[in-house]
Amino acid sequence: MDDAKRRSSRQRLKMTLTHSAKDTTTAFILRTKVHGLKHVFSPYKSKTQRLFWLLAIFVCLGLLFTWSWNRILYLLSYPAVTKIYMVWSHNMTFPAVTFCNQNLLRMSSLTKADLYHSGYWMDIMHLNHTVNRQSVSMLKLSRHRERMLNLLDFSHYSPPPDYQLNTTEMIDRLGHQLEDMLLDCRFRGENCTYKNFTPIYTRYGKCYTFNSGLDGNPLLTTLKGGTGNGLEIMLDIQQDEYLPVWGDTDETSYEAGIKVQIHSQDEPPFIDQLGFGVAPGFQTFVSCQQQLLQYLPPPWGDCRSEPMDSEYFSTYSITACRIDCETRYLLENCNCRMVHMPGTSTVCTPEQYKDCADPALDFLVEKDNDYCVCETPCNMTRYGKELSMVKIPSKASAKYLAKKFNKTEQYIADNILVLDIFFEALNYEKIEQKKAYEVAGLLGDIGGQMGLFIGASVLTILEIFDYFVIHHYCIISYHSRQNHVPIPSMHQDITDHTLEYTDFRIDKVKLV
Ligand SMILES: *[C@@H]1O[C@H](CO)[C@@H](O)[C@H](O)[C@H]1NC(C)=O
Ligand SMILES: *[C@@H]1O[C@H](CO)[C@@H](O)[C@H](O)[C@H]1NC(C)=O
Ligand SMILES: *[C@@H]1O[C@H](CO)[C@@H](O)[C@H](O)[C@H]1NC(C)=O
Ligand SMILES: *[C@@H]1O[C@H](CO)[C@@H](O)[C@H](O)[C@H]1NC(C)=O
Ligand SMILES: *[C@@H]1O[C@H](CO)[C@@H](O)[C@H](O)[C@H]1NC(C)=O
Ligand SMILES: *[C@@H]1O[C@H](CO)[C@@H](O)[C@H](O)[C@H]1NC(C)=O
Repeated sequence: MDDAKRRSSRQRLKMTLTHSAKDTTTAFILRTKVHGLKHVFSPYKSKTQRLFWLLAIFVCLGLLFTWSWNRILYLLSYPAVTKIYMVWSHNMTFPAVTFCNQNLLRMSSLTKADLYHSGYWMDIMHLNHTVNRQSVSMLKLSRHRERMLNLLDFSHYSPPPDYQLNTTEMIDRLGHQLEDMLLDCRFRGENCTYKNFTPIYTRYGKCYTFNSGLDGNPLLTTLKGGTGNGLEIMLDIQQDEYLPVWGDTDETSYEAGIKVQIHSQDEPPFIDQLGFGVAPGFQTFVSCQQQLLQYLPPPWGDCRSEPMDSEYFSTYSITACRIDCETRYLLENCNCRMVHMPGTSTVCTPEQYKDCADPALDFLVEKDNDYCVCETPCNMTRYGKELSMVKIPSKASAKYLAKKFNKTEQYIADNILVLDIFFEALNYEKIEQKKAYEVAGLLGDIGGQMGLFIGASVLTILEIFDYFVIHHYCIISYHSRQNHVPIPSMHQDITDHTLEYTDFRIDKVKLV
């Protein structure tokens, strides 16, 4: 009796379930925005028509999935585009201009003690403080011959007992002094003096930076493009003071002139690698164009966005990274740093310069490709340059200049140079790397294709989902019942859960 009752109730349930499943399916197919389905299941269409619609649906689904997959792959390849445009501005910050004389030490300021300690570095003496005869023979025609021979006579010489060798001080004292070199200086038509320049050490020794922004000086700006609105300096490069070349070594330089680098204030100069040369006897015009480069960090690009992890520099730039790396290399290999390198460790002596530091640094720069690998920073300022030059002095002005500076005409022709640095126009070029495709674009594309191929939207997908969840639930619960697995009724289920929940809460309350 009980059994029969249960069986009949199950029968009823089965019927209701089947009935309701069929109902929901029909309703769903009639309602859905996936257009093709209507035709496939339509009772008013012939078999061929329905088959055609079924085929069409599958083809469209195939196209939808391949195209969407294609778009997803495109997004995952992190595409980027580069955008170049001009930005006009009312005023622009003038760049820092660093220049160095090609010569490291001045002949006329050498003292006996300097020669005694750095003669080996200058190739004029042996390590045992005896004079290199070969080098001295090159002095024959030099203006400094008498004085040098005097200085090089160490027969009754012993270094002063309290003499402290300080390479920094030596390079500072023996390098070319700007007071003597700078004959004329103008910025936007106003006079400037050597005080507007900041001394800085580089591999060329003592160099000078204009508009460095250091020591609390405000950065200079220009309001117009063109020659009159930039920097104009006239320099005497003092070739008489150049150290004679004794023979062929790696360090010898045969050139006369200055090296110049135009860089942003955030970047230290790296003039031995990045500077351009300016020759005496010419007026050189440098027309600059500022460029701001903005790259994207990985995975779109390969620039470096993290700040600098260095004790010497705060802003990351390729130059800062390379100087930092060279400093570490020398500290590891020679146990000292060169004068131009940052830090507080001991400075190399002239002997260490010649025997270790110079060769090690040359090796690092020329041969070692693995030690100093510096990534591009994400933000970078560079200055595009166009150089042109005219001869100076002209035949007409040679006499006047010779008289003005109390020098011979030959001296003027060999030693004077004029350098003009100015902005071409008051605009800068912005080169920006941008993400070419993002998630919003992907959704737009997939949405478009869904509309195109199956006429569906996100809500349609939700409808299908909704239908499957309900239908599935019905079927599962029905099948489970048939297999005699006791599944609690919906109502019971909820009550049980509530009970459990309540118990749990009571437990908790008790615990507290
Ligand atoms: C340059 O422009 C900035 C703002 O764009 C302004 O604050 C500054 O005073 C200007 N400098 C000069 C010299 O006009
Ligand atoms: C000093 O060294 C050079 C070469 O290294 C050598 O020719 C010379 O004889 C040495 N002089 C003395 C006094 O030892
Ligand atoms: C070397 O000279 C520089 C400047 O002349 C000075 O700042 C530095 O303290 C000196 N170093 C030593 C070790 O005396
Ligand atoms: C600039 O210096 C020159 C001499 O070098 C002088 O004749 C001129 O008067 C100075 N101009 C100003 C504005 O100080
Ligand atoms: C680069 O500059 C832009 C604006 O000029 C700034 O928003 C961005 O944070 C900078 N990025 C880095 C890594 O300095
Ligand atoms: C010019 O230079 C010579 C030495 O080069 C010096 O004797 C003379 O006094 C100088 N004349 C003036 C006017 O400075």
